[in-house]
Amino acid sequence: MLIDAKQQYDSQGFCVMPQRLSDAMLAQVRESISEISGMTRPEVVYEKDGKTVRALHGCHRFDDVCADLVRLPLFVELAESILGEEVYVYQFKVNIKNAVDGERWPWHQDYAFWSIEDGMPADRAMNIAINLDDVYDWNGPLQVLAGTHLLGLIPSPDHGATSGGDWRDHVSADLTYTVGDQEVEELGKRHELHRLTGPAGTISAFHPNIVHSSARNTSSDRRTILYITYNAVSNSPRHAHRPHFLVDPITTAVRKLDQPLALTPA
Ligand code: SIN
Ligand code: MN
Repeated sequence: MLIDAKQQYDSQGFCVMPQRLSDAMLAQVRESISEISGMTRPEVVYEKDGKTVRALHGCHRFDDVCADLVRLPLFVELAESILGEEVYVYQFKVNIKNAVDGERWPWHQDYAFWSIEDGMPADRAMNIAINLDDVYDWNGPLQVLAGTHLLGLIPSPDHGATSGGDWRDHVSADLTYTVGDQEVEELGKRHELHRLTGPAGTISAFHPNIVHSSARNTSSDRRTILYITYNAVSNSPRHAHRPHFLVDPITTAVRKLDQPLALTPA
């Protein structure tokens, strides 16, 4: 099973898992996320209006349910099999795309941020994405250009920007490091677009160099996706200066925690 997922990941830059979070586990995670959204703390990021919650960061560092989630053997084993060594949690975030006026995420590659801002030596990290709401074509799903993970970092004028700017520009709708529209149009001729849709609980994984984005959500359905980024233990950042809730300074291998009721067949 992990072999199939790894094969798809290696060739396409993403995979969708045959398991999903169980209803019980999903309910626990959603409850935690809803509680954290109402807290006043730096990990909670708002849209430009200053009141709509856009994202939560680093929840595995202070919330027990999220701390258990990142230790699910399926996630850790998938990351270890893809990265070929022990892994730790580099980033944890929840992107809440509000119904009706949910903001977009421009086309980008995650590794641009991790390499330029944090000095991550190689693209030897991977993202797990868990849909916490039902995600459809029309409520701003994550969309990826299959196979672009093999292109390395695509040169962009943005990449000359000096690191050390405001970390909020790495998590806003005006991202610091993007892939330009013209480049995306060219890439779109050779790389198939996939939308990572699926009911709440759907689990997928994607590569740090895959070109991806998500559109505005003008539908009446909120779209929430939780992302866990695992990094190879030997690939820790060389000059991380961003807040600890964005780049976890604890780089010791994550310990798996068997949670037999956490998953169910998709
Ligand atoms: C991301 O690319 O990091 C997030 C995109 C999204 O949640 O739509
Ligand atoms: Mn991204």
